[in-house]
Amino acid sequence: MIQKPFHDPVLKKEIKDVLLDGKVTIFVDGTLGLGGHAEAYLAEHPSLKIYMATDLDAQHLTLAKERLSEWAEKLELHEANFSALVDLIPKAKSRQSGLVSFLLDLGLCSNQLDDANKGFAFAVDGPLKMSYSETSDLSAEEIVNDYSAEELSRVLNDYGEEPMHRKIAKKIIEARPNQSLKTTWELRHVIESAVPIHQQRKTLTRVFQALRMEVNQELHHLELVLKALPEILEAGDRIGIISYHSLEDRMVKQHFKRLSKPKTEATDLSLHTEVEPAQFKLVTRRAIEPSGEEIERNPRSRSAKLRVIQKI
Ligand SMILES: C[S@@+](CC[C@H](N)C(=O)[O-])C[C@H]1O[C@@H](n2cnc3c(N)ncnc32)[C@H](O)[C@@H]1O
Repeated sequence: MIQKPFHDPVLKKEIKDVLLDGKVTIFVDGTLGLGGHAEAYLAEHPSLKIYMATDLDAQHLTLAKERLSEWAEKLELHEANFSALVDLIPKAKSRQSGLVSFLLDLGLCSNQLDDANKGFAFAVDGPLKMSYSETSDLSAEEIVNDYSAEELSRVLNDYGEEPMHRKIAKKIIEARPNQSLKTTWELRHVIESAVPIHQQRKTLTRVFQALRMEVNQELHHLELVLKALPEILEAGDRIGIISYHSLEDRMVKQHFKRLSKPKTEATDLSLHTEVEPAQFKLVTRRAIEPSGEEIERNPRSRSAKLRVIQKI
């Protein structure tokens, strides 16, 4: 069994409190990672009959499978994007009665960030890959070497909310004839040459985040899941999403808000006649965040925000 040095999974107890009770028989974990949440919930909830999980990182699936071998007969692991769950959840529901709880713990695990070979971090030198999956069609290297200035600028602005997106895109284009950008540090040096020293760290963080989100089409896959929720979940089923940055959290918050409001239409008599009742209710009115104690133990949890809704 895999033990420390892995951190406890983020918001482990808070998720248990809002997503698990004796009626939940199918737990759907879209971002299995190293199986930290899975281990805790399988150990504490013998009433779970199916633990269905996806991850794009084949290495994570192998490690988690080993860690969770005690519950092998309950596991259904898929090397797939979590958006594939839109088809997999109804199939699981047709085989097993009871409620579904669905968890997405977005983004990447610390060990992926620390792995130079994956190219996610500007702190370590490595190939400019930034994909969760080894079989991805797109890499950060292709983006920085092949995208036009307009496309690069759009990625940095949309996914990094980078104020100097145009200037950085221009610098990257200018660097191309002299050097093809193949490593995280080659890209880092180009970005550092475009911004004042005191802004470099924040800019690098935003640019690397933006490229990762483009490589993995992160908001697109999240949106696919959010849009499918009314079809794939049934009364009593819940979904909890942990986001780590404002773009994702905003998307989750707005979507959950829309789903938990009745549909109204303007008529001759009133501006707000209810034409369809709300399909979901908010389980968390405000996002749940890690305690000070958790942040101290695991500083990378500090930006986590958990939002949960339930189908009515
Ligand atoms: C924050 S970690 C999850 C940690 C996990 N909850 C645990 O307890 O170990 C996120 C995981 O989701 C995976 N991932 C990210 N985006 C994904 C996607 N669109 N589809 C499937 N897996 C994804 C990453 O490869 C990573 O393993």
